[in-house]
Amino acid sequence: MLVEIPNLLTKEEVAHCRDLLGASDWVDGKVTAGAKSAGAKHNLQVPESSPAALTLGDLILSKLGRNERFTSASLALRVFPPLFNRYDSGMKFDTHIDNAIRFVPQALTGGASIRVRTDMSATLFLTDPADYDGGELVVLDTFGEHRVKLAAGHMVLYSASSRHHVTPTTRGSRWSSFFWIQSMVRDEAARVMLFELDAAVQGLRKQYGDTSEVVSLTGLYHNLMRRWSEA
Ligand code: NI
Repeated sequence: MLVEIPNLLTKEEVAHCRDLLGASDWVDGKVTAGAKSAGAKHNLQVPESSPAALTLGDLILSKLGRNERFTSASLALRVFPPLFNRYDSGMKFDTHIDNAIRFVPQALTGGASIRVRTDMSATLFLTDPADYDGGELVVLDTFGEHRVKLAAGHMVLYSASSRHHVTPTTRGSRWSSFFWIQSMVRDEAARVMLFELDAAVQGLRKQYGDTSEVVSLTGLYHNLMRRWSEA
């Protein structure tokens, strides 16, 4: 599954993110990599409990909460606090799979231990594609290779179980936010069916209004959610 979420952030919000990130400290991206992927990872990150990461993370979470396409595609139960990275010229991230379970830093949870099962990975692009070369996110799934490079403010959601890499940046610097989502629906095939059913029902409702068939299909959607979700 690979779903684009266009215009998650407005141009003004992207500019605000870039201002705060530009004034922030950056550290080696290996700090949040698992032991196996650290060797593959060559980028810079904003420290996860830095003021810029916390402020911008809250902005992104509030925008996600109001985004219907994100809600429908992810059926999110938990979202890992957004992280921020950059790939300057020559930086890249070789092929890897994201860790299955991530612990939210206790500095952000008031000491509580909160785990997120990473069902989906998200990348929110924060640099205009005209301002850098390379830096493509390449996701490998059963249907082959998908190359993703989106406008600033757009986001891609993809299966965290897929192998993926970021090609070397050869000009400019590619900035983004990245994070993971634990879905209420763990099974990806079931989640994709719910996403498609929701889109079809919304389309029918727009075309025909709340006919008894539309109401019946809406009921089926919710009854499948009851059967398949953990909330
Ligand atoms: Ni990854």
